Amino acid sequence: MDSKLVFSGVQPTGNLHLGNYLGAVKRFVELQDADTMCIYCLVDLHAITNWQDPKELRRNTIEVTAAFLACGLRQENSIIFNQSQVSTHTELAWIFNCVARIGWLNRMTQFKEKAGKNRENASLGLYCYPTLMAADILAYHATHVPVGEDQKQHLELTRDIAMKFNNDFKTPGFFPIPEPIIEGTATRIMSLRDGTKKMSKSEASEMSRINLTDDSDSIRKKIQKAKTDPFEIPSVKEELVNRPEAENLLGIYATLANQSIEKTLEQFSGSDFKKLKDELSDILISELDPINKEIKKLLNEETYIVEILRMGSEEADHISRPILQKTREIVGFLK
Ligand code: TRP
Repeated sequence: MDSKLVFSGVQPTGNLHLGNYLGAVKRFVELQDADTMCIYCLVDLHAITNWQDPKELRRNTIEVTAAFLACGLRQENSIIFNQSQVSTHTELAWIFNCVARIGWLNRMTQFKEKAGKNRENASLGLYCYPTLMAADILAYHATHVPVGEDQKQHLELTRDIAMKFNNDFKTPGFFPIPEPIIEGTATRIMSLRDGTKKMSKSEASEMSRINLTDDSDSIRKKIQKAKTDPFEIPSVKEELVNRPEAENLLGIYATLANQSIEKTLEQFSGSDFKKLKDELSDILISELDPINKEIKKLLNEETYIVEILRMGSEEADHISRPILQKTREIVGFLK
């Protein structure tokens, strides 16, 4: 084991889809298998910054955990837990609320996007979402954080909080300055209905995404119906410009086949979309079918999943508690 410590969080707000799988969860598994200490958190406290139906929140937390396990995350190698079971996160977040400046939070583009026009009516939690995220990371002295492009600004804020804390309290190096591991563009999976939009669980149409819980028939159907264009598959990358749907389908194929986009173009150049879609469906099904079956199996063992989260939370508490205690002393709180 090296001294690298990886932390990442995923909101339990719905099924994981192909974009989450290729962009995030697969990377989580690779990092875990590279013998790095990894902590993966279902951020249920972040989820409730927007209204969540309690039954659905519970269900989603269990489903996303099942998906993590089905994709290869292992309790023996990683810590898997849900945020709300470990109170160090919220305690540290309060301290960070007093370190971060309102001006910093006012610059967060995700808040602006999510709050939309009706900002007065957004929850206060949505506004200070990034300080809780900083607490998630820094409560473990994590050094590396795999995140999507959209979370880069929040990670910058985390770094600013760590630096200001270290400065204000004259404790240089107490909080390490964490590095982002940004998902590559190769793993940016777009909507099957619109190649310019990211695949997302918030898009209304189910046909826009492949869920990890989709069976083989629905995968085939969604790929057959995926948007394309009237041209044939080109032979060079440059000709994919302004053909986002073609680029997306080829990109997914390339990622799953573990080969370059050039090699993939060579394979399909000159053919129509039918051939690409048939082969893409086959490769998707061979990758996702075992995961799909395993998720179904695990969902019948709810008590097992609840127990995994409980044990993970205990371990997470065990690591973050002494760091919080030290932080409390630095701030001047009595034991
Ligand atoms: N904000 C992240 C997202 O929506 C989720 C998250 C919460 C997170 N806490 C984190 C990611 C800590 C990385 C590290 O994707």
